[in-house]
Amino acid sequence: MEKRTDSPYPRKDLPILAIIGVLLVISTIVFAVTDHRKDWRYYQAEFKKMVAEKFGAEKAATIPSGMKQIWVPDMRRADRCITCHQGILWKGFETADHPYKTHPPEPIRTHPIEKYGCTSCHGGQGFAVQSQEAHGPVKFWEEPVLGKSMGEGYSLAGDDKGALIQMNCNVCHRFDRETKGMDMINHAKKLVRDKGCRACHVVNSRGGTIGPDLTFVGDKAAEQYDMSRLGGQKTAFAWHVSHFKNPKEVVPDTVMPNFGFGTKDAQSLAALMLSWKRAPVPVDFRPGVARTDPQTAEEVADEQRMKTGPGAWFVKTGCFICHSVSSLGVKSAAQIGPDLSTAVEDTQSRFGKTVDDFVKNPTGTMSVVLTRQIVLTDQEKEVAIQKLREAYAEHQKQKAAGTAATASGGH
Ligand code: HEC
Ligand code: HEC
Ligand code: HEC
Ligand code: HEC
Ligand code: HEC
Repeated sequence: MEKRTDSPYPRKDLPILAIIGVLLVISTIVFAVTDHRKDWRYYQAEFKKMVAEKFGAEKAATIPSGMKQIWVPDMRRADRCITCHQGILWKGFETADHPYKTHPPEPIRTHPIEKYGCTSCHGGQGFAVQSQEAHGPVKFWEEPVLGKSMGEGYSLAGDDKGALIQMNCNVCHRFDRETKGMDMINHAKKLVRDKGCRACHVVNSRGGTIGPDLTFVGDKAAEQYDMSRLGGQKTAFAWHVSHFKNPKEVVPDTVMPNFGFGTKDAQSLAALMLSWKRAPVPVDFRPGVARTDPQTAEEVADEQRMKTGPGAWFVKTGCFICHSVSSLGVKSAAQIGPDLSTAVEDTQSRFGKTVDDFVKNPTGTMSVVLTRQIVLTDQEKEVAIQKLREAYAEHQKQKAAGTAATASGGH
């Protein structure tokens, strides 16, 4: 065999190879260092240094090292977040970077971390000790940390980009009418009351059946939504925001009204909807309010008064949930449909039908109402028509006397 004397590489290439070799070594070191930054050991070492600098070496020596976790058996949570977030309970690191920063005092004063852990409020994977895994989003894990970065990702309206955390707060606080520190959710709860969503939806076992029961709508998986008409992000949150801005754009044949919600309203409502889920939280973690939200005394009294007035039939039959009948003294809280005082002439202009024909062959929302929520026999429909005529007659009488209340209402 002939001995090869020439190297496969000409000699003049050697310096270049050497440079490449050195570069490889350097980049390996750089890579190792930057990768190391993500390790919890790195953060623990850094934190120890910070404490030593500020409070002395003796104090720093008291900081335990190693994997740390808060075990909350009642909630089946083992949160290792404090493995990196070691500064949570320390004073003096209020302006430090994450994960060394002191926690804002108020939330964990009322909800001590030994009892609540971290993820019950923040979300995230408690058992993970790597930054990306702990904070998410991670595939097959539905509870990423609801932090400022996510709020920014959704272009949350308003100054508080961290407000999404309130979705988790409300899993426990859902029966509060209002909770301090939960402005976004409070705003949404008020909209739900003012707009009369219960006319069509059951919430906490009270409400109508035109739309789906919303009590645990937050448990609905993202795959169960039809995202085909959404532009941009295809998440449950984005679906609800679009749906609130214009229900028909997402569900073309829906009878859910367009309430004209702007971005802030729609985002707040979306957050509230997603917070309505079954809580893996034992009863004593729920705030001490009644675990229902019954009608207020005022609402009950109003209903009682109208039930004995001339518009009693509309109250007892349930029409008043969506319709006022002002000529008969019936006032609807939600006013989702038009005032029925003038229905006798309005069905002509609105639907091109006599009121008889409309009640017998309704279209739109009323076709759903009369098949799903208030099912009337033929005989009862005759009564309905009769009552609508009485309301109209009364309206005309009041109009002649100059005392007619303006028939208002609608969407
Ligand atoms: C491996 C270390 C590590 C672990 C474990 C960890 N974090 Fe962090 N966390 C960080 C670092 C670093 C930052 C700042 C940079 C960033 O946002 O990634 C941070 C930032 C945060 C922020 C602020 C980000 C924002 O968007 O507002 C929150 C909130 C947070 N972490 C909560 C948690 C929770 C809850 C857990 C436990 C489920 C957890 N972290 C576990 C390292 C960690
Ligand atoms: C009772 C609910 C609750 C619990 C429990 C809780 N936090 Fe928080 N945390 C909050 C709230 C509220 C904020 C302020 C959010 C904001 O303003 O954006 C916050 C802020 C933070 C921040 C960001 C601080 C900042 O100034 O930007 C981090 C990081 C954090 N928490 C980590 C943790 C860790 C780790 C635990 C567990 C040891 C924990 N939290 C337990 C409610 C809670
Ligand atoms: C795991 C359930 C749970 C979560 C999550 C939770 N809370 Fe609470 N919260 C409670 C309970 C239970 C109480 C009642 C404590 C008591 O009265 O002893 C309470 C009390 C409160 C109070 C009244 C405190 C006081 O001064 O009496 C406020 C305000 C509050 N929570 C706000 C929040 C906010 C904001 C969040 C989210 C950052 C949150 N909670 C998350 C269960 C929870
Ligand atoms: C006139 C009846 C009506 C009113 C009033 C109404 N909805 Fe709906 N809603 C529906 C119907 C019907 C659907 C099912 C079709 C669809 O998704 O649009 C629906 C769907 C929904 C969904 C999606 C539920 C799911 O499981 O996909 C949410 C969330 C919702 N409504 C919330 C609200 C809120 C909040 C309000 C009050 C601001 C409200 N709705 C008012 C009729 C109504
Ligand atoms: C869940 C809400 C809801 C309930 C309950 C309801 N309606 Fe309606 N109704 C509407 C809406 C919304 C309209 C407007 C038409 C549309 O959007 O399709 C309407 C329209 C009407 C109209 C036509 C009015 C006009 O001026 O054009 C009549 C008549 C009517 N409803 C009668 C009734 C009667 C009678 C009852 C009780 C048996 C009743 N409605 C219960 C929501 C409701």
